[in-house]
Amino acid sequence: MPQTSRRTSVFTESLIREMSRVAAKHGAINLAQGFPDGDPPAALVQAAKDAMDAGRHQYAVTWGSPELREALAAKLTRCTGAPVDAQSELVITCGGTEAMLAAVMTVCDPGDRIGMFSPFYENYNADAILSGAISIHVPLHPPGYGFDPTELRAAFSTGGGLKAFILCNPSNPCGRVFTRAELLQLAALAEEFDTFIITDEVYEHLVFDGREHVYFSTLPGMAARTISCSSLSKTFSITGWRLGYLHAAPNIIAQARKVHDFLTIGAAAPLQHAVVTALGWGPDYYKSLAAEYQARRDLLLGYLSETGLSYSKPEGAYFVMLDVTPLGFSSDVDCAHWMTEHIGVAPVPGSSFFPYPENRYVRLNFAKSQPVLRAAGERLSCLRAGRGSV
Ligand SMILES: Cc1ncc(COP(=O)(O)O)c(C=O)c1O
Repeated sequence: MPQTSRRTSVFTESLIREMSRVAAKHGAINLAQGFPDGDPPAALVQAAKDAMDAGRHQYAVTWGSPELREALAAKLTRCTGAPVDAQSELVITCGGTEAMLAAVMTVCDPGDRIGMFSPFYENYNADAILSGAISIHVPLHPPGYGFDPTELRAAFSTGGGLKAFILCNPSNPCGRVFTRAELLQLAALAEEFDTFIITDEVYEHLVFDGREHVYFSTLPGMAARTISCSSLSKTFSITGWRLGYLHAAPNIIAQARKVHDFLTIGAAAPLQHAVVTALGWGPDYYKSLAAEYQARRDLLLGYLSETGLSYSKPEGAYFVMLDVTPLGFSSDVDCAHWMTEHIGVAPVPGSSFFPYPENRYVRLNFAKSQPVLRAAGERLSCLRAGRGSV
């Protein structure tokens, strides 16, 4: 029999999405896959209905409908303070997921090295493998999840250097919001080693405690070598609409458009039209979004603090890494399944975010409504007594 490709045999199905299925099987509260459990703003839902009624059913322009690109360029210009050209600097994609894969495929040739911090969002390894690139991991050190500049330099300088470095900021899963000083260190290395920076900024508006999200492309000299990827999934609670984008200099976008075209042709036309409405909303929308998620974070952390287990305090995004070592499992995958079945709360095994089996952590998300988080918190309180007593 013919064999399927080697590249598809070296990565597994997503553990994150698998844990959603396990949660459904056991009727557990799903704190595994990060998506909001509420509806998007009503005006957005209405705009989607209107777009359907207005007959927006056929392909949009491959790299995004002109109205959406104009609205997005205006929003990015407001948020980053740097002008964005709707004609030449944007590609609308099927979510941040496609944006990231298209970005990696746009810059990497087979055998190129691509750096990323570890823990990392699990898609990046698959993106590298599908592009034939070799992943190089730079550890972020708990509890603060900072990097060691010597380790970062070592990654940039190994084996002829890095073609690209993936920066997830705010970071899934560890919740870091990198400071300007940290990002400037990364920028200096990118300049020195002539490396592309691919950013994943899908949580750009979820930053807490008065922190600032620094758009990497706005750092001095970085616009020419940064491919900024982001998404409307998290910002407008529309993960199922599959809308994201790439933003980069025109010479990069010219190549990325082709990758995107042959991967998907384009994102759903009526939904591209609908989301234009939301991109016009002012700063109050983003402020109240961040405030709501900060309240959810504090609610979940309140319950976790009662378990006696250690956990990270997220500076942004909506995930917490919980150290489950005291529960005594030799495998985090077993622990995640046990929590789903016996505690009634589904987490993601921490190993999904590391290049090796990391049996110490599980990841929980707080993208859920406060009543759901309260119910999950009550269940998680059982962990206080350890695993034997459940
Ligand atoms: C860091 C990160 N990037 C990308 C995605 C996927 O975003 P999208 O729904 O826009 O494909 C997620 C989803 O959880 C994520 O956490």
